[in-house]
Amino acid sequence: MEVNLLIGVCKETAENETRVALSPEGAARLVDSGQNVLVESGAGSGSSYPDELYRESGAKIAKSDADVLSSCDMLLAVQSPSKERIESLKPGAILVSFIWPLQNKEYVDLLLKKKITALAMDTIPRISRAQSMDALSSMSNIAGYKAVLLGANHLDKYMPMMMTAAGTIPPAKVLVLGAGVAGLQAIATAKRLGAVVEAFDVRPVVKEQVESLGAKFVEIPVEEEETETKGGYAKELSERQQEKQREVTAQHVKKSDIVITTALIPGKPAPLLVTRDMVESMSPGSVIVDIAAEQGGNCEVTKPGETITHNGVVIVAPLNIPGSLAYHASKLYSKNMLSLLSLLIEDSKPNLNFEDEIIANATVTHNGEIISPFVKENS
Ligand code: NAI
Repeated sequence: MEVNLLIGVCKETAENETRVALSPEGAARLVDSGQNVLVESGAGSGSSYPDELYRESGAKIAKSDADVLSSCDMLLAVQSPSKERIESLKPGAILVSFIWPLQNKEYVDLLLKKKITALAMDTIPRISRAQSMDALSSMSNIAGYKAVLLGANHLDKYMPMMMTAAGTIPPAKVLVLGAGVAGLQAIATAKRLGAVVEAFDVRPVVKEQVESLGAKFVEIPVEEEETETKGGYAKELSERQQEKQREVTAQHVKKSDIVITTALIPGKPAPLLVTRDMVESMSPGSVIVDIAAEQGGNCEVTKPGETITHNGVVIVAPLNIPGSLAYHASKLYSKNMLSLLSLLIEDSKPNLNFEDEIIANATVTHNGEIISPFVKENS
């Protein structure tokens, strides 16, 4: 088989980043399909993938990132590589990673200047054909699952109902605010642990999904006609409507042992759902896990990246939750990425078919131009 592309993977450099873009299994698939794979030594160590596994998969191990960057035709990464790394790539090289182009305009300018062909995992359209490439969902799923474990770990109560010789313990009450991918997984996980679960989301279509997982949907009459964009995302509510939402939410927060907040609005700061007053109304020992912390958080007292106690209530606001489940996060991310590569590589050559809405929307920059209609429309 023709061998053409050199696909590179470096150790991630962002603080606390444990994930790696390509698993040894993913590397084996690329090698089997005729590509050369070059992995920086130690790239997988944070995800429990030692160099040895990459060697066995047929990949080559490079001593330093410079060796990978100066020679690869395509660089696979989780977080957008540092500016220095972009500067070290060959002109015309292809980058595939999370990029968040709407929030990182300066970075996009660098990609344009360097004529990098950059595909963002975060701008792949969420259509059925692209489900296997949906790294946002893979990572949100992990965040929702882990949020419940963190909540349970900080709670000084049982999650399930316990009938013991010393008496009966009632199940913990868990409230999930925002029932997208992460929220639904949080509901499912909390149910599995035996908690009684309630949930709310502004998108009415979610009610049925919440109920099918055995949770109660909190009814908050939303006056706005449209709470959802065509793409299935939430729209920002008016201040009056947000106030109304908070009034109802307050009653439920007060009674909950664990509140898990997951609400996000693309391109905007996370909406404020849990006010300081609500936190102060909770029983001591209750826990809030705010997984929207990276976008500022859904709780007024959240300190992104920290675990604090406010009035006896523990507020956990971790950053990069998927990184805390690095083995599976990397495995799933790698699969999402390979799925995109199966469209992007044809006969061992890049095939940038901009007629395909997946490739077009994912391609943030190519040859000094912005390609993605999604990016053009929203920037
Ligand atoms: P997200 O991470 O952007 O937001 C999380 C949740 O917060 C959303 O459900 C949103 O409605 C909710 N939210 C926003 N403001 C809120 C507020 N004030 N109060 C309560 N909840 C609030 O969303 P995520 O998880 O990325 O998914 C959003 C939607 O994207 C999905 O439900 C679905 O329609 C679509 N999607 C489609 C997929 C596909 O077809 N392949 C895969 C995954 C998602």
